[in-house]
Amino acid sequence: MTNPSLLILPGDGIGPEVMAEVRKIIDWIGTNHGVNFEVSEDLVGGAAYDKHGVPLADETMAKAQDVDAVLLGAVGGPKYDDLDFSVKPERGLLRLRKEMDLYSNLRPAQCFDALADFSSLKKDIVSGLDIMIVRELTSGVYFGEPRGIFEEGGERVGINTQRYTETEIERGARSAFELAMKRNKRLCSMEKANVMESGILWREVVTRVAKDYPEVELSHMYADNGAMQLVRAPKQFDVIYTDNLFGDILSDCAAMLTGSLGMLPSASLGAPMENGRPKALYEPVHGSAPDIAGEGKANPCACILSFAMALRYSFDMGAEADRVEAAVEKVLADGIRTGDLLNEDGVKPASTSEMGDAVIAALNASL
Ligand code: IPM
Ligand code: MG
Repeated sequence: MTNPSLLILPGDGIGPEVMAEVRKIIDWIGTNHGVNFEVSEDLVGGAAYDKHGVPLADETMAKAQDVDAVLLGAVGGPKYDDLDFSVKPERGLLRLRKEMDLYSNLRPAQCFDALADFSSLKKDIVSGLDIMIVRELTSGVYFGEPRGIFEEGGERVGINTQRYTETEIERGARSAFELAMKRNKRLCSMEKANVMESGILWREVVTRVAKDYPEVELSHMYADNGAMQLVRAPKQFDVIYTDNLFGDILSDCAAMLTGSLGMLPSASLGAPMENGRPKALYEPVHGSAPDIAGEGKANPCACILSFAMALRYSFDMGAEADRVEAAVEKVLADGIRTGDLLNEDGVKPASTSEMGDAVIAALNASL
């Protein structure tokens, strides 16, 4: 059997710092579970632009297509704000998603017990929260044509198009139903069928797919109500399935319920490859945090937990994924915190590498 391969794209801002901690975890799994990951590293986002003049070089794209999983840090930063739209750092990430056809974006929002006080909501509303947002990632208004800024009647008009085919709605829905089957068997689909035709079709297709999953209880909600329900009573949800743009917004909203963006991983999955593994990219939900980049202050947990998702979804190493997740939880329970997880004055926060080392220590203790 060939070794599992991983392409690491640290990207910009805090990306390289948090990725350095993930490297420790990858090595630990290699040593203690006898798996030798073949790890390669390359550039994405502003870092790629600085070297190649584009946010993702063709060679990097080809490598991404060729590995079992891609692990990405973060892209973007104020240095690149004035770049032409076509070469902005974010375009590199969007190209990866589109060309790898990563249509199903899994964004768990889980509230760690030790952090329940950190949520902007009351503790009893969020403690024990464990929901999964499945966001359609390769279509909708992010990619629909026509798009652009055009001249019309002596002024400019900005146009983007919300567009969904039945196939696109259906394949994402299937991945959401499959996940619901492995969880609490409840799925809430969110769209705006009251104002958008794409929403009407969305609802129809999801309802049709539901016939293949009779054990899953399906509900529908308008996305605006969904946003309200997420902050009113988030524990009513198990799996949420929604489109690209609503998913972008709702997942940020769900993320904040948990107390810290620094804790949340994500997986973007496509169709199975020849070896049966899905095409996959894993990345933390947080951004490049330019304000603290290079200072050793960033929380590496979201990126470490993204690697745990890779173990689970790309490498059939569910037990190892559980072990990494438990180690992170143990570190938090022991009170070890990066600055984003602290609000008491006078407490010295752990640095990025101290946090990574603490996770390694917890992993060692778990053997
Ligand atoms: C996300 C981000 C991206 C998106 C940006 C960086 C292109 O906000 O992954 O949620 O809008 O999808
Ligand atoms: Mg977003």
